[in-house]
Amino acid sequence: MQVKFLNCLIDLSKGVFKPRPETKFWVKKVIQELKKQKGKLKILDIFSGSGCIGIAILKNKKGVFCHFVDIDKRAIEQIKINLKLNKISPRSYLVSQSNLFEKLKGKKYDIICANPPYVAKERLWEVQESVKKTEPKISWYGGKGGLRWIKKFLKEAKKFLKPGGKIFMEFDPLQIPEIEKILKKERYSHFQFYKDQFQRYRWLKIQN
Ligand SMILES: C[S@@+](CC[C@H](N)C(=O)[O-])C[C@H]1O[C@@H](n2cnc3c(N)ncnc32)[C@H](O)[C@@H]1O
Repeated sequence: MQVKFLNCLIDLSKGVFKPRPETKFWVKKVIQELKKQKGKLKILDIFSGSGCIGIAILKNKKGVFCHFVDIDKRAIEQIKINLKLNKISPRSYLVSQSNLFEKLKGKKYDIICANPPYVAKERLWEVQESVKKTEPKISWYGGKGGLRWIKKFLKEAKKFLKPGGKIFMEFDPLQIPEIEKILKKERYSHFQFYKDQFQRYRWLKIQN
């Protein structure tokens, strides 16, 4: 199966997470913001899955280098397929299999984009059968409160950000109070929550 995502064609034949309309919505906003920025940009697309976020940025904004990172071998294969499918120059990307930032020691980015697995254990009953059948649990399940990966990600991410860098992250609207607590605990001071196309808080921007 292939789907369209912001001027890109995304192949899902390896059985990875299918890009959601909510993700498309915020990534479009991010691209609009990045287009205003001058100079070269080094981007990290972590929890990359099909690679849709990083590929859409590469395809729609000049002067970008993107590092794609996922823990799942299927995703790594899928990202490589999609980079070729969208004719992205091999000079403008790197693909790494890594558990979060484990293999990224010492690296720094201008922009970090993340769509972590965030379905809460308590809301498992809401997950459609089709999702359970076709998308790996590792790609959407976030444990207690859906916060397992969000917590780990936010604890580490700032170390990988250049001065003046930005983090964009997707989450479940119900997680806002907990995420706000995590952000304060991890000493992020400039952050803002944004709504999706359905008027629900869905993504945030953190500035370093
Ligand atoms: C919700 S999907 C997002 C996929 C894609 N970025 C998108 O927005 O459609 C989350 C992805 O995170 C990956 N993942 C889960 N745990 C991870 C970890 N500890 N480190 C890196 N990637 C992980 C999964 O394999 C999956 O591809």
